[in-house]
Amino acid sequence: MTEMSSETPKAAERKRLYIKTYGCQMNVYDSERMRDLLTPLGYEPSDTPEGSDLVILNTCHIREKAAEKVYSELGRLKPLKEDKAAATGTPMTITVAGCVAQAEGAEIKKRAPVVDLVVGPQTYHKLPELIAEVHRGRGDALDTEFEVEEKFDTLAAPERQVDGYTAFVTVQEGCDKFCTFCVVPYTRGAEWSRPVDQVVAEVRALAAKGVREVTLLGQNVNAYHGAAPSGHEADGTWGLGRLVRHLALIGGIERIRFTTSHPKDMDDELIQTFADEPKLMPYFHLPVQAGSDKILKAMNRKHTAAEYIAIIEKLRAARSDIAISGDMIVGFPGETDADFEATMALVRQVNYASCFSFKYSRRPGTPGAAMFGQVDEAVKTERLARLQALLAEQQQAFNASMVGKRLPVLFERDGRNAGQLNGRSPYLQAVHCDAPIEMIGQIIEVEITGASKNALSGRLVPEETRAA
Ligand code: SAH
Ligand code: SF4
Ligand code: F3S
Repeated sequence: MTEMSSETPKAAERKRLYIKTYGCQMNVYDSERMRDLLTPLGYEPSDTPEGSDLVILNTCHIREKAAEKVYSELGRLKPLKEDKAAATGTPMTITVAGCVAQAEGAEIKKRAPVVDLVVGPQTYHKLPELIAEVHRGRGDALDTEFEVEEKFDTLAAPERQVDGYTAFVTVQEGCDKFCTFCVVPYTRGAEWSRPVDQVVAEVRALAAKGVREVTLLGQNVNAYHGAAPSGHEADGTWGLGRLVRHLALIGGIERIRFTTSHPKDMDDELIQTFADEPKLMPYFHLPVQAGSDKILKAMNRKHTAAEYIAIIEKLRAARSDIAISGDMIVGFPGETDADFEATMALVRQVNYASCFSFKYSRRPGTPGAAMFGQVDEAVKTERLARLQALLAEQQQAFNASMVGKRLPVLFERDGRNAGQLNGRSPYLQAVHCDAPIEMIGQIIEVEITGASKNALSGRLVPEETRAA
């Protein structure tokens, strides 16, 4: 930590920091925490890489396209690094963080020598030291150990800056599921849960800064089993349902969400929490990936299509207005036309409010990459188009079903048109509505008057008839 104190900024030493984030919400959270960690060292966020002292690419390795984006970005940064050195005499430090850093390690510097520093998702709490090492001219700046516990202990200290009324909070990291298509168990390491006390402290601090909605994050968030809080040590660990109920008691927190869950880790307590905790939003992301049991088995998903449907039915019985979202992969090795039709049939049965869908991408080091029966790109393209057309229809119908309803909307920011605000419904739909600026940060009832595939519009419900 000596490096930290030697870098304490004087006013003249303000430095510019540019962070570009790829991938999932967990990377968004990590990027915010990196910023928070670097602020006391005098780094101020910048919207562009030009002229920045420190550039961090927080990367994603999930599909080939995501991973390759990093190298094209590094190509664009090279002349900017040279320009900066020529203009100011002080070099730009280029850092690759996140899941590509973890997966490729030292290979990154070989392929892109413009990179100064490589830091994995579980060691970015050491960025201040690592950056100081780069500045001292040591060439071995690479840290991709798995130190998740130490990371969160270190991160507890720096103040979280808050950008608005919603915030992500990572509560669980890593994954032990080893789906055969997926790199996450290799890039994020083994499953680990933050202790309840630590999560509560972070959410309390966010609430004190005006945050109204928190989304609890984890690669496998419903596997959460954090150490019970002080006063409850005898319980050992708490599951996610209990954590959610506990966080709902924190004053100022009005909405709670969590993502991403695995069907195998759905327990009755969590399902019951949807029934009786009104602060838990009735919108649930539960990926299934495929509808054919043969493919689910080859994917090592550890459940059948019927078991997945049974969970959805239980959730709907617990909370009739719950909406479901998911993730799908088409063209996993061995997927026949009949297997794909089983995916289409499952989608029709579930009727998703929204769903992400991807062509299978062969990832180095995963069992799927070595399987026989890799599917032709053209077949994947055709299947994805059919699936996406069905999902778009379902999403449009879900949004249209909101017209005429009254929904509580958390207004987050100015809208595009004068006098308009943008907010989110309980189902995460964007809602545009004419409303006074003072309503930003409040949850107000809106009557929905219009719907498109991606957004809703509405008008304020007159105050005397508002329920929320
Ligand atoms: N932890 C989450 C998913 C993380 S990855 C979960 O278990 O659901 C997000 C999504 O990317 C996955 O749900 C899957 O649909 C998709 N994905 C992961 N690996 C992929 C691959 N090799 N090819 C295509 N899509 C993939
Ligand atoms: Fe990847 Fe499967 Fe783990 Fe999700 S559950 S992160 S898809 S290995
Ligand atoms: Fe990508 Fe890593 Fe998230 S691979 S999806 S950034 S966990």
